[in-house]
Amino acid sequence: MRYFIEDLGKHVNETVELKGWAYNTRSSGKIKFLELRDGTGMVQCIYFRGECDESAFENFGDITQETSLKITGVVREHPKKPGVYEIGAQNFEIIGKSPEFPISPKEHGTDFLMNHRHLWLRSKRQHAAIRVRAEIIKSIRDFFDGRGFTLTDAPVFTPNACEGTTTLFETQYFDDKAYLSQSGQLYMEATAAAFGKVYCFGPTFRAEKSKTRRHLIEFWMVEPEVAFNDLYDNMDLMEQFVEYVVQRTITNKKEELEILERDVSKLAPVKGEFPRIHYKEAVEIIKKENPDFVDGDDFGGADETIISSQFEKPVMVHHYPTAIKAFYMKEEPKDATYSMSVDMLATEGYGEIIGGGQREDDLDIILRKIKEHDLDEKDFAWYNDIRKYGSFPHAGFGLGIERTVAWICGLSHVRETIPFPRMYGRMYP
Ligand code: 4AD
Ligand code: MG
Repeated sequence: MRYFIEDLGKHVNETVELKGWAYNTRSSGKIKFLELRDGTGMVQCIYFRGECDESAFENFGDITQETSLKITGVVREHPKKPGVYEIGAQNFEIIGKSPEFPISPKEHGTDFLMNHRHLWLRSKRQHAAIRVRAEIIKSIRDFFDGRGFTLTDAPVFTPNACEGTTTLFETQYFDDKAYLSQSGQLYMEATAAAFGKVYCFGPTFRAEKSKTRRHLIEFWMVEPEVAFNDLYDNMDLMEQFVEYVVQRTITNKKEELEILERDVSKLAPVKGEFPRIHYKEAVEIIKKENPDFVDGDDFGGADETIISSQFEKPVMVHHYPTAIKAFYMKEEPKDATYSMSVDMLATEGYGEIIGGGQREDDLDIILRKIKEHDLDEKDFAWYNDIRKYGSFPHAGFGLGIERTVAWICGLSHVRETIPFPRMYGRMYP
């Protein structure tokens, strides 16, 4: 039988065998402590001279940081901390030695840690953040799967741009050119006509030459699309979705969020209706603190922070100027200078986590927009067919996973929210 650290509570007073890695060791007189981790958790193994095998006590010094080993011992509840277990250890057997593990408990620079990302992932905080990420992803899938959405994943190789041509990654596709997907949205618009409520969930790519704490070159995005939803239905879905993901994650991942020292009381209010403000109202808010902001421009990171600092819940800013949004955004019928777009800005200055809106469903207008955006009409023939055959109002959005993980975990940079980040200037390891 295999025993795992996270299940030790079910085996109190039993003798178990554990396999894992040495996180830390220390000695004090007749006692030696081994902090053992196995990926599912961490447990203190206590070697008492006279109770454990004499050889285990004598050779304890062979256990260096990250040595992999097998140990046997009896599970006990911690005398002072209920729910915490420890091992009255008998012996150990080294499986793999680990001479001079490069990441010691002392401080290391970011560059050093990023170069050792493959090893850094074993440390407590990194482990906690990636476990929270896994829970967030599971909750996202459960939310949509539980509400009648069909998963219709989009291709990664694409013949055309979705989010503007400046951030396209070009690659060879036999004798043709292809681009790595910036967003699965255009394909979701097609599958929405086949399945009604759909989503895709996959990696997306942007050749953004910016080194900010919010930008990755390769990031994961979940993109729902719903037939016959308008901008306002879309906002309803956005707030229900984000409430579900946040509340479930803070309930299920308490221990990890504690390790990350996240003040979860700040996430408790993320439920019910979220504030909705027009782009023009957002501009008013920004101008009070940043008088140089030009009406009509897109928001910078600092501007988003000004807006979100006004609210204890995420805020949805809708009706951005048509001129700064993608070709597919529907123009507001009452005033075409504004689009039926919506972004969700997270609390505490974490910035935009969702971009979305209602799509243009009129064939003539989409043809005009494709021209205005300097896109090649023939690349979009299939996309325009969605407007030609049974066109329908529809709306959707994309939530960036890494920015959401950064927000929920309280991490200042997206590089710690994905196991192996791809960033501008970094592709190793
Ligand atoms: O606002 P964006 O560009 O929207 C779209 O791609 C739409 N086609 C989605 C849709 O409507 N189906 O990107 C959506 C989200 C952003 O709000 C952000 O969370 C994340 O994707 N994102 C990035 N995350 C990390 N690094 C980057 N370079 C990102 N670019 C966008
Ligand atoms: Mg956006």
